[in-house]
Amino acid sequence: MSDIILRIGFLGAGCINFGRWNVSWDHASRLERLGGFKVIGIVDPDTVKAKQVLQTRLASQNGSFYTECRIMADLAELIAQRPDAVFIGVPPVARGSLQYNKDLELQCVRAGIHVFVEKPMSVLPLDDFRLYAAAMQKAVEESNVVLSVGYMFRYHAAVRKMKELMKEHGGKVMAFNARYYYAYTEMTNKYWYNADLSGGPVIEQATHFFDLARYIVGDVDLSSIHTLMLEEDDRSGAGHIGHVPLGAEEDIPPRKRIPRVTISHWRFENAGVGTMMHSIALPGTRYEANIDVQLDGLKLSLIEPYQESCILRMRSMENGKRDVDKDFTFEGSDSYSTELETFLQAVRKNDQSLIKSSYADAAKTYELTWAVRLNGERNFRT
Ligand SMILES: NC(=O)c1ccc[n+]([C@@H]2O[C@H](COP(=O)([O-])OP(=O)(O)OC[C@H]3O[C@@H](n4cnc5c(N)ncnc54)[C@H](O)[C@@H]3O)[C@@H](O)[C@H]2O)c1
Repeated sequence: MSDIILRIGFLGAGCINFGRWNVSWDHASRLERLGGFKVIGIVDPDTVKAKQVLQTRLASQNGSFYTECRIMADLAELIAQRPDAVFIGVPPVARGSLQYNKDLELQCVRAGIHVFVEKPMSVLPLDDFRLYAAAMQKAVEESNVVLSVGYMFRYHAAVRKMKELMKEHGGKVMAFNARYYYAYTEMTNKYWYNADLSGGPVIEQATHFFDLARYIVGDVDLSSIHTLMLEEDDRSGAGHIGHVPLGAEEDIPPRKRIPRVTISHWRFENAGVGTMMHSIALPGTRYEANIDVQLDGLKLSLIEPYQESCILRMRSMENGKRDVDKDFTFEGSDSYSTELETFLQAVRKNDQSLIKSSYADAAKTYELTWAVRLNGERNFRT
């Protein structure tokens, strides 16, 4: 399959697959730069939106990728066209479930189609999700397809460098500290504000950094997790946020609004301790995210991995310069693009081992984020 033109389909004509706002999401544009495929279908129940997306792409300089593309309201139509691979970018409430027509990934895998699916895996509570995950795992093994979950930071050049430096240094991680600050005032996907639809900020957003905790350090002892949340109706008044766009929270009662701040800490199974803070407070559209990892005699700070200007800052025992920071930069590196390129390569070679985020591995991140959420809710909503 190495040279053939892949026939691909998109599920979801929204932001992650086709871009919007001043953010870097847009799988289609990155795929267009990589080439080697033609799009045979875009599935979205909102066919008006999907048609607009297709018209825009056809009119662009990359229109040739879409000349055979049809708009479809249902996945069954796409499966009937036997695509080689699909990119599933629909809200988690619409997939990741054995409920009727929410088993999108499962239908594709069972049809022998390679799957790239976005995080989070689902919004289902763990007992129900585990049934789906087991069915998925069995289907992936039986169909022998490639499946990749969209944890793009695993492909980030700075994360790769970080793991390399830690391996060279040796020893165990003593401390992992991540901060993910959501910039919320100027854009929104309304469903992010409804935990029933998105899973809430830990499951939907901070999931990337819980996944990195597992990828960089290792699995978390779930019984050690302790989470505090600042709720909208906190008695101090500190949980009130006044700039939610598009009235996204107007029809959600204060008690059900998503937490404004989540702080969680835990023990790793085979390393030291970790902590994560997620907040909804920053103005504008630029998220801020940072991770510090400390080993004996080594500190690595991953500064703003969402930005092209991302820095990996190291303080180490190197050359006696023990009080001096050394910065690594990664201009031109694009983790989304590396992730998608790797997926296409894996499909062409039918080699799952190239994928850094398998379904079974991503399911563990899903379990971790639910454990964090439930612990926070138990502490504050009893
Ligand atoms: N990896 C990342 O950095 C990243 C960034 C943004 C979004 N995402 C993920 O991508 C997914 C989609 O998010 P988004 O921002 O694109 O949402 P969106 O609301 O912009 O778009 C989702 C689209 O899916 C369509 N849809 C709903 N049900 C469908 C179905 N059964 N079949 C086909 N289409 C359906 C909707 O009509 C909508 O057009 C979410 O899981 C989100 O977490 C990941």
